[in-house]
Amino acid sequence: MNKLPLTLLAVAFGSLLLSGCDKPAPAAHQPAQYNLVQLEDPNEDIKVYTIPQDTAILDEPNAEQIFYGKRLLNETKRLLPDHVGAAMNCNSCHIAQGKIPLGDPYINSYNFYPRVMPRAGKEVNLVQRINGCFQRSMNGKPLPPESEEMQAMIAYMKWLSQNVPKEQLVDIRNAGAVDESLVADPVRGEQIYYAQCATCHGDNGEGIKDSRGDIVFPPLWGDESFNIGAGLARTYKAASFVKYNMPMGIQVKGLWGHGNVLSDQDAVDVSEFFAHKPRPDFPGKVNDWPTMPKPKDARY
Ligand code: HEC
Ligand code: HEC
Repeated sequence: MNKLPLTLLAVAFGSLLLSGCDKPAPAAHQPAQYNLVQLEDPNEDIKVYTIPQDTAILDEPNAEQIFYGKRLLNETKRLLPDHVGAAMNCNSCHIAQGKIPLGDPYINSYNFYPRVMPRAGKEVNLVQRINGCFQRSMNGKPLPPESEEMQAMIAYMKWLSQNVPKEQLVDIRNAGAVDESLVADPVRGEQIYYAQCATCHGDNGEGIKDSRGDIVFPPLWGDESFNIGAGLARTYKAASFVKYNMPMGIQVKGLWGHGNVLSDQDAVDVSEFFAHKPRPDFPGKVNDWPTMPKPKDARY
């Protein structure tokens, strides 16, 4: 059979499945490509960015460092137990090793920082941004900026940015939109949780570990989850993650694992339910949002 019509069909079918999403999906066998935009002028397309395959790391002079960074992001709890309080790896939230738009990707992280962040009320560099996730999302302790581990994680993010010039960004979004005017209904959220989430995340939000104690499904609340200072402890931030990435494995449109099964209301309700369950405190919360009012969904 002639190959061309098949390919066209695959592409057409792919975009049909994803209609309503941010970007048309590439056929599964093609590497995903995205346009670049100038930071100063987001409308000006410069050239195309292709999400690299991990095998391409071998071509880099610092391949060993990049592979170490990749491992640390995937197996953070096991490799850095003194710095991680939660039963969480970085890639428990940064889906598919930070390569998926709307799944908290690291694709633009190397170029995006340093930048003034509303929560900090001052300029934050990439080391501080990563340590913010260590202290809040991982309920743990920061890494020394010059440590081998911190530098390896940054090397992975730099590699992922594929030499995009420092003043440019890839034209993707880190999180999808949800309607923030929706009022959350935690009772409905609890029903959704037990119907759609509990099989993996547990009846008590505790997640599932394998027989060696390694994380299979990360916890959504309790002592081993992210603390109240994490972005995901906020209903609408959590909803924009959940809507586009969860429930993992159940798919009606788009690529496997890309979510988009829940409506905005479903995502807001289930997020309100789990975000407000008991979780560790974050002592540093007193310093947050020094220059502006707290967002309406902050836990403190
Ligand atoms: C519980 C979920 C969770 C975990 C675990 C987590 N993060 Fe994050 N991280 C987030 C969220 C959510 C954001 C985006 C927050 C926002 O919207 O400002 C983020 C943002 C980031 C960013 C900035 C991304 C960008 O381009 O702006 C980096 C870099 C990052 N995290 C690195 C890490 C590293 C490294 C770890 C492990 C030490 C980690 N994260 C663990 C949820 C998490
Ligand atoms: C088939 C299993 C499965 C189901 C069902 C599922 N998840 Fe997840 N979830 C995962 C996995 C796996 C991860 C970690 C990401 C990874 O490893 O790629 C995750 C990560 C998360 C995270 C970020 C990490 C954390 O622990 O906070 C949140 C939040 C989350 N899921 C919420 C939900 C919600 C809400 C539902 C129901 C609507 C749901 N999940 C259903 C498998 C699942």
